[in-house]
Amino acid sequence: MVSTPREQVFKERQSRDKGVIEDHRLMELHLYPGNQCNRDCDFCTVFGSPKGWYTDYTATHLDAALHSVMTHEQGAIKFYGGEPTLNHENVIWAVGYLRDHGFQGAIVVYSNGIQAERLLAILEADPLGKTTASLNYSIATGDGAPQMPLSSLRKLETYERANRGEIAIGHPDIVDSGRGVDPFTGEAARPKNNHQCPHCYPVLKTDGQFHACPFAVENKSPHFQLGTVDDSSETVTQNFQRFLTWLDTVHEPYAVEHDLPACTVCWKHIQQLPTPEFVSQQESYSLDGDIKSEG
Ligand SMILES: C[S@@+](CC[C@H](N)C(=O)[O-])C[C@H]1O[C@@H](n2cnc3c(N)ncnc32)[C@H](O)[C@@H]1O
Ligand code: SF4
Ligand code: SF4
Repeated sequence: MVSTPREQVFKERQSRDKGVIEDHRLMELHLYPGNQCNRDCDFCTVFGSPKGWYTDYTATHLDAALHSVMTHEQGAIKFYGGEPTLNHENVIWAVGYLRDHGFQGAIVVYSNGIQAERLLAILEADPLGKTTASLNYSIATGDGAPQMPLSSLRKLETYERANRGEIAIGHPDIVDSGRGVDPFTGEAARPKNNHQCPHCYPVLKTDGQFHACPFAVENKSPHFQLGTVDDSSETVTQNFQRFLTWLDTVHEPYAVEHDLPACTVCWKHIQQLPTPEFVSQQESYSLDGDIKSEG
């Protein structure tokens, strides 16, 4: 049952501009250590499960993040998974590492909130006090998934009341990616279908791969492979721009023509689409915009 007072405590997180790149740096980057989770929601886009995979964040991984995201106040790094609170000590270490190495921007932790004390410990660990949380809508409200324990919810509500704006609630939208919309049992009125991709920012996974989409992060198709931690930020950001162009010129026309939700195209039809025209590791733009070879 949806609990209206819950939604009054946690405000919905507002999205920012999409596709912003400055000096070969993304305005936002997601960090993903695998899909291990203490839940297995029937709609989960990443196939979260207690049996999911998990690999710690390391300095190599975070250095690549620091090279590819804006490090000034406009930048944002978003931790998700899987469930970040299952390995909260590694997340706390990662937040400290990012701050020690000059990251001034916002940090957001996506969490189901069940391990409330661990989530609050992550928020408290940021020396700049700019780490906030975004709760899973279904698990916070009980609409579409078993609600989190009330003892956890009370702790999070109390914290939010005392620290306004530090814990938000995620969007209710369910997209057809991963386990997708078919088994979803939440309110029928929650929006599901749209031909247009929301143009999310990319993901750096702890296996060293930059993936173009946080919703499709477990989709291994080459259409999403932007590069690795060994590639320059020029290569990764150029490939992301080419992915966005591909979304507008190839993906969306296909979704419209076949009357499919955008994420369904990625999940079930992507092999019928050509890959984006990515630059390879040996290729990058010179400053005047011409393609040149590094090899
Ligand atoms: C994959 S979860 C990982 C973090 C954490 N376990 C959680 O649930 O918040 C990140 C966000 O994705 C959302 N999500 C999961 N499956 C989704 C789907 N099919 N469509 C839209 N959002 C989805 C969750 O509600 C959550 O807000
Ligand atoms: S949506 Fe979050 S809580 Fe639910 S299974 Fe996926 S990762 Fe876990
Ligand atoms: S349409 Fe594709 S790229 Fe866009 S959010 Fe959905 S799965 Fe990701």
